[in-house]
Amino acid sequence: MTATLETLFAARVREVTPPLFGAAGEPARPLISLAYGLADPALFPRAELMAAAAEVLAYEAADSLNYAMSYPGLTDQIVARLRAEGVDAQPEQVLVGYGSGQILALLPEIFVDPGDTVIIEGPSFLGAVRRFVQSGARLVTIPVDEYGMDVTALADTLRALAAEGRRPKFIYTIPTFHNPTGVTLTLERRRQLVALAAEYGAPVVEDDAYLDLRFTGESLPSLAALDQEGWVIRVGTYSKILAPGLRIGWVHARREIIDRLLMVKAEGTTGPFITRVVARYSADGRLEQHIAALRRHYATKCEVMAAAIRRHFPAEARFVMPAGGFFIWVRLPEGVSAGTLLNAARARGAEFLPGTACFAEPGHGDDAIRLAFSFQSSERIEQGIAAIGAAFADV
Ligand SMILES: Cc1ncc(COP(=O)(O)O)c(C=O)c1O
Repeated sequence: MTATLETLFAARVREVTPPLFGAAGEPARPLISLAYGLADPALFPRAELMAAAAEVLAYEAADSLNYAMSYPGLTDQIVARLRAEGVDAQPEQVLVGYGSGQILALLPEIFVDPGDTVIIEGPSFLGAVRRFVQSGARLVTIPVDEYGMDVTALADTLRALAAEGRRPKFIYTIPTFHNPTGVTLTLERRRQLVALAAEYGAPVVEDDAYLDLRFTGESLPSLAALDQEGWVIRVGTYSKILAPGLRIGWVHARREIIDRLLMVKAEGTTGPFITRVVARYSADGRLEQHIAALRRHYATKCEVMAAAIRRHFPAEARFVMPAGGFFIWVRLPEGVSAGTLLNAARARGAEFLPGTACFAEPGHGDDAIRLAFSFQSSERIEQGIAAIGAAFADV
């Protein structure tokens, strides 16, 4: 008898799902990919990062190259940014991780036992949602409209769950420049959401990866800034404002939560070297200057994409112009399937993310597509959108 490995795998990884960013870095394909929210390589501050890395090696080699804690100076900078945003942040309430993706993977480990309820948005960032599923969470999906999560539907859901004696372990939301829809939760809904969290004792995981990348309009307070009772777990990242390859993200939450996260975070610390490089780079207002440049640059590319969509897509294709972030979410004309359109678009040399890749349950999202304007140049965005526009005629 030949023994197989299959039954040895833990239930949560028995079925193989393809890695989320598997296709992202494949340069061999001639396609113009608008599928993934990669940063624009033209904007990486390479010289300044080289100088920061050289300084760390020159002056802090003993600490940065040894087994050591992540650099407290970076935590102080994160706290300062949170305070500027109106959050009563404390350094002992911050944990730095290898990207916010790591933090989002650790949160279900400390909250979810199999069968527990987690509330998510539909559509959402599946990179995080898949981790919740792996922990055995029962997902409940709340729809997102042009004003963000439907907070009335959330209130109904929380009431119904409470009637069944079910208290959600957390509510996962991307309130600002949502991935994938680009929409932003209104101030009124933000207040309602924070009030519901307190009323039902349900933590809110606020994933504000795109918060700093606002192109137009006034900033809104983060949920963490509105929260008076500590129910908001604020997750942030340097991936969208500096470089994803640095792998630096963070979480601000009650100390009880930080303590538990440290129990499940295998290394206990995060990159003594890279945290120093990021802190040196960011010092003296340089990060804020860089963010201002990113906002202008991404705003232009968003405009280019929106104009190209208006020119090349059928008039019945609809989208809400995002006020920031990386994505435009297009609702397809009646009867057009995202899956079918994707095949036709690939044949014409471009690709996008079908809406189905943004919903946890099957059977949703085939009427929409996500287009990332972050990575490709304006010229390639124009070409890619033209190719997808031509694909509409093919289907
Ligand atoms: C909403 C959202 N959260 C988190 C992440 C992960 O970012 P990080 O690079 O910090 O792991 C992404 C990346 O695309 C994202 O879109």
